[in-house]
Amino acid sequence: MEKTLIGPFIQLLPLSGLPLKGALKDEALQIIPNAAILVSQGKIHKVGIFSDLEKEADTIEYVEGDAVCLPGFIDAHTHICFGGSRAKDYAMRNAGKTYLEIAKAGGGIWDTVTKTRQATEEELLKGVIQRSKVHLNNGITTLEIKSGYGLSVDEELKMLRAIKKASEAVTQDIVPTCLAAHMKPKDWSGSSTSYLEEISNQLFPLLKSEGLANRIDAFIEDSAFSAEEIAPYFKAAKSYGFDLTVHADQFTTSGSQTAIDYGAISADHLEASGEKEIVNLAKSNTISVALPGASIGLGCDFTPARNILDLGGALAIASDHNPGSAPMGDLLTQASILGTFEKLSNAEVLSGITFRAAKALNLHDRGCLKTGNVADFVVFPTNNYQEITYHQGQLRPSMIFKNGKHVAPHPY
Ligand code: NIG
Ligand code: FE
Repeated sequence: MEKTLIGPFIQLLPLSGLPLKGALKDEALQIIPNAAILVSQGKIHKVGIFSDLEKEADTIEYVEGDAVCLPGFIDAHTHICFGGSRAKDYAMRNAGKTYLEIAKAGGGIWDTVTKTRQATEEELLKGVIQRSKVHLNNGITTLEIKSGYGLSVDEELKMLRAIKKASEAVTQDIVPTCLAAHMKPKDWSGSSTSYLEEISNQLFPLLKSEGLANRIDAFIEDSAFSAEEIAPYFKAAKSYGFDLTVHADQFTTSGSQTAIDYGAISADHLEASGEKEIVNLAKSNTISVALPGASIGLGCDFTPARNILDLGGALAIASDHNPGSAPMGDLLTQASILGTFEKLSNAEVLSGITFRAAKALNLHDRGCLKTGNVADFVVFPTNNYQEITYHQGQLRPSMIFKNGKHVAPHPY
């Protein structure tokens, strides 16, 4: 089998062999100096010192100059399939208007639902491809994308078909998630329960037969669905074999307990979580996902990331990129800023967007650089990994590799 050696890298952070849960000191990072990656058929054959691996290589792709290599970043929570813009909401919020006032003025999630319904599948596809390219240039090699702005069987199908087509067109691996339980649609005259029944009866079988999603998400919140309403929905989802994830504890608590009770792979947001919720999550197998982009977009508190780690939780960090609460969408910037506010080590920030993020998507072949994993990695133009979070996202990757191929950065 043809083997290609890529390197040398002044530093390589494999992020392998580290614990899934709990605090991490930078001293735990087993940095390899003068390193390289031996790639075979898109997978990592070996990671090690360049001069040790040279003799095993059939070809060598030399990396010139300052270079620090990390696993490709994983954004485990986005809503980048949408129509319209919510710049007006943003301006109103910053002018002191309340959630209710913004909704009354035609803003909020429902505005994006209206614009997304007006868009064709083709238009949605173009938007997803364009945003995915920006994420790729920022080092994201695996990207989760949710539906949730269609809110009817047909409109959710339109979104998820656009996401599926995008996954065939973009460089990243896309993980599609159905968020039909984002809010009760305003044009649904029945109860929340009857809406969720319609989705589980009509949409779930189609998601399976068309291969459109293998994850079901729900927004558990006063403005969306209660834990009681979501219980039968999650039971139905489990009977189909879907993985579960929850928009939990964003403004009020209860979502995280539902996530634990139903064995959800992740509980995302958690800005409102207290000690009880954090301890229970830490005891469970559910990964906690912080979404600093939503805190920055809304001007709200950050997820208590320090506490989650100190109490033994598994912390991933994702962008929540969406037109309403998190329009910026730059994961490295947001994770770095979360680090400054929550006093996270480099190891904790970088783990949150690599191997711990992989676990939040139930992916076991990526997130760290070790033999057998997909050869997804990013290179930064520096000789010291500490520069990466220090520049809070402004130090951009100089090279991005997907399945062992140099794919980016590329012009938009
Ligand atoms: O994750 N919290 C619920 N949903 C999204 C916001 C979506 C929107 O405002 O359009 C979130 O922040
Ligand atoms: Fe979200």
